[in-house]
Amino acid sequence: MVPLNNKSNPTAAFLIVGIILLLTGMCWGIIGAFQYVIPGLFKSQLSFERIRPLHVSSVVFWIIITAVGCTLYYAQEHTGKKIYSVKLLKWQWALFVLSVLFILITYILGIFGGREYWEFHPILALPILISWILCLFNFFKTTGTIKKQPVYVWMWFTGFVFFLITYIESYAWLIPYFRNNVVNDLTIQWKSYGSMVGSWNMLIYGCGIYLMDKMSGTTTYSFSKIGFAIYFLGLFNLMFNWGHHIYTVPTHGYIKHVSYLVSMTELLLIGRIIFLWRRSVKENKKHFHQSGFRFYVAADVWIFLTLLLAIAMSVPAINVYTHGTHITVAHTMGATIGINTFLLLAVVFDQLNPVIRKIKNYNRYLLPGFWISNVSLIIFWVSLIVAGILKAWWQVHHPEIPFSSMMQSLRPYFILFMITGVTLTAGMWMMLLPVLKQYFVQRIRVKKRMGILYNRRRASLHTS
Ligand code: HEM
Repeated sequence: MVPLNNKSNPTAAFLIVGIILLLTGMCWGIIGAFQYVIPGLFKSQLSFERIRPLHVSSVVFWIIITAVGCTLYYAQEHTGKKIYSVKLLKWQWALFVLSVLFILITYILGIFGGREYWEFHPILALPILISWILCLFNFFKTTGTIKKQPVYVWMWFTGFVFFLITYIESYAWLIPYFRNNVVNDLTIQWKSYGSMVGSWNMLIYGCGIYLMDKMSGTTTYSFSKIGFAIYFLGLFNLMFNWGHHIYTVPTHGYIKHVSYLVSMTELLLIGRIIFLWRRSVKENKKHFHQSGFRFYVAADVWIFLTLLLAIAMSVPAINVYTHGTHITVAHTMGATIGINTFLLLAVVFDQLNPVIRKIKNYNRYLLPGFWISNVSLIIFWVSLIVAGILKAWWQVHHPEIPFSSMMQSLRPYFILFMITGVTLTAGMWMMLLPVLKQYFVQRIRVKKRMGILYNRRRASLHTS
């Protein structure tokens, strides 16, 4: 592992865009939560149909773009080589960022045309696809071979390649052959989504394992059996975990159960590896990497909680109830915030360390921000689960009660969800706003210095 000179860290721009998407995406979520409590709020300009995709796409793009940036950074640190082409990297970044910008604007304008989770017009999928291909090429060229590589390099390769395949697959519905058969269409759609999540998990877990070894100053997990076990399970999972996403589609029961079992084993192993690592890290190293370490602890707790919920949801008798309720939303948000976001934040804090180090009294923001967001997240998650249980009970046992009365009885939980959503967001803003500010201050300073140097050189050329 060769530490990079962060003055020339071209992948930081990915992380910064990711953070902006996370912070703004959470604000869209807050508006959505207000709309739970005050139905019809902003109906004419920003209805829930617009807010939901604005929120979900922003936070999903936070995960994707940050995972890409973090992987490309560690790929350089791991090989000790600079990225193969900075020019390609800039193109890749620009294509991605412009597409996301267009996507969000089209949502605000109410222009759709895609499917759930990718509601944007399919034409906008094209620049993202091109950007991904550029990224893949740059990554391959930087890393070279996968022979005798540690497990994280295998994870990165797999994540990049499978994301490409499954992203294309998620647009199979554009071809009438797939679109015209409802079962095939639904199966392919959910299969591709499940695999896409598996692909970005590969990138994130790869970075997570890399950072664990970097923090402890060993290569314990890079070549360990448990590391490779996670890799193969993750690979199996990203190929087959779709089974449990399509309980409503007629397929064999064993497919669903095997896929559930595999996704849970994967969670169990990643939770265990982090737990063992946490115990093994020496006190002085913990202290040195305190902020990153803290996020690992939080992610580990969330892996455990997500696992508990997943076990409950995998019981077919319970699954019948949970479908279409807020329990599914709790499961998705618990995993994407508690696991994906916290692991990514550990990595982001490592990679942006040169920026963060310069923030005066940063612990004043970081510590309260960290605790506020974690405590809020627990209440946020529980309130969704309780609302989900009550809705499920109504769905199965009291369908005669009007929908509006049932929703009225869920109001207290929605209010709690809304309030804790606000505090969760406030916590994240507290931790990340100073980082954004410091990054831009430094960029402006560098630009100014370069301008002065340029002017001096021009002046000296004139005089000579
Ligand atoms: C890191 C932060 C967050 C992430 C990664 C995240 C992720 C997600 C995801 C993936 C979904 C789709 C769930 C599904 O379809 O099952 C979702 C839905 C939603 N989120 Fe978040 N979320 C975050 C923060 C927030 C916050 C702070 C709020 C504010 C209260 C919020 C409110 C909502 C709402 C209202 C929905 C729509 C649920 C529905 O369709 O009924 N989210 N979020």
